[in-house]
Amino acid sequence: MTQSNNNSFSSSLGAIMAAVGSAVGLGNIWRFPYICGKYGGGAFLLVYLCFAFGIGMVLMMSEFVIGRRSRHTPMRAFASLSPRRKGWRYIGLLGIVTCFFILSQYFVISGWTLSYFFDAVTGRLATMGQDAAAIGCYFTEFSTSASRPVVFLTVFALLTAVVILCGVQKGIEAVSKVLMPVLVVLLVVLCIRSLTLPGASRGLSYLFSPDFSKLSAEGVLAALGQAMFSLSVGMGVMIVYGSYIPASDDLFRTSMWITASDVLIAVLSGVAIFPAVFSCGLEPAGGPGLSYCVLPNVFNSMGGVTGVVFSAIFFLLLSIAALTSSISLLEALSAWLVETLRTRRFVSTLIIVAAEIALASIVSLSNGMWSHLQVGGDTFFDFVDRLNSIYLPPLCAFGTVLFFAWVMPEADVRDELTNHGVLRAVYYPVFRFIVRWLAPLALVVVFLTSILT
Ligand code: PFF
Repeated sequence: MTQSNNNSFSSSLGAIMAAVGSAVGLGNIWRFPYICGKYGGGAFLLVYLCFAFGIGMVLMMSEFVIGRRSRHTPMRAFASLSPRRKGWRYIGLLGIVTCFFILSQYFVISGWTLSYFFDAVTGRLATMGQDAAAIGCYFTEFSTSASRPVVFLTVFALLTAVVILCGVQKGIEAVSKVLMPVLVVLLVVLCIRSLTLPGASRGLSYLFSPDFSKLSAEGVLAALGQAMFSLSVGMGVMIVYGSYIPASDDLFRTSMWITASDVLIAVLSGVAIFPAVFSCGLEPAGGPGLSYCVLPNVFNSMGGVTGVVFSAIFFLLLSIAALTSSISLLEALSAWLVETLRTRRFVSTLIIVAAEIALASIVSLSNGMWSHLQVGGDTFFDFVDRLNSIYLPPLCAFGTVLFFAWVMPEADVRDELTNHGVLRAVYYPVFRFIVRWLAPLALVVVFLTSILT
């Protein structure tokens, strides 16, 4: 056992809350609703549900099994579960590299979110009224400026580090147990407000009415990518969380709860956002444009204090979601360093957070002052985005699932899923088929299509 793994979650509920905290993030709140609408609403949702439960959840169970069986972080977990083929540990290393790049970009966007929360609370966003051009301009000016995004990403990173320094139970678990219910309450408040606006039904039909003509092959692949990102699988974070899960937990049930909660929150986010956007006669935009350019307009159209309150609620919600996801990424990196360098948790967390702040600052500055910093014709921001969305996660997920299905002894897998024969795993044959054939095939298709198109 590693130093970091002397810790574990105190209960099943704690483990579920922490993993839901990891899963529910920026991906659920601004990314899911937009791509759902873009690729055919209800039709996309259907495909997304199949991938989330059929592949994402299965990958999550695999990572939990690897983590709980080995009680190690990814690199050592792979090495210890196949002692004669130590080369697999490089898949663990790939996971660590993936977490490192994702967290840098995550800190940048979380910093934007925190900054917008302050702008909402201080009324600065409200002063822009319903002037779409002014709000768009503000976002561009802000995100390309040198100081403010870097200051906010640093504050956000330090906040994340404080939670990690408090430990697995007193930090990650305690914070998730408080923040996840708060997030749900805030989201429900936003849904109620959105659904009671005039013309809300147009937003609902954009989100839910199935339009199979919009569901292209690209949409199907986007659904798989989104399901994996949203469930935080494919980069080893769930291996680390798996190593903290109590031995008596049913990994199937735990994964089912996490997947269902994650999907539900993604759908509720769509319900909170689209009726409001359509009710204002606005067009939904993609990516950062939706949260930072379109939504402030929606809140300002509510007028006065109501607008300020709802925009503050939204950006608080988004900040909370971003925080609990960042926590899981930083924990994976910090626990890995503890295990590798045998340092104290305090030291390893500080080293990682300092390195992340440095990388995230470069990523942020490459939007403006350092836009000349290019890699293969892309700005550094776009390069990191490309790594995080196209290359690293599918590769790492592919390696993990190959290891799990073809290298790790099957007896260990069964033992872990049945809790040493106590539970009946009736789903096992289907599960085995998915990890051996379906998931690797799907990942290869996603990877090849995204690099070739
Ligand atoms: N699941 C998070 C989201 O939906 O925003 C993102 C994420 C967190 C991905 C942690 C990967 C990870 F390890």
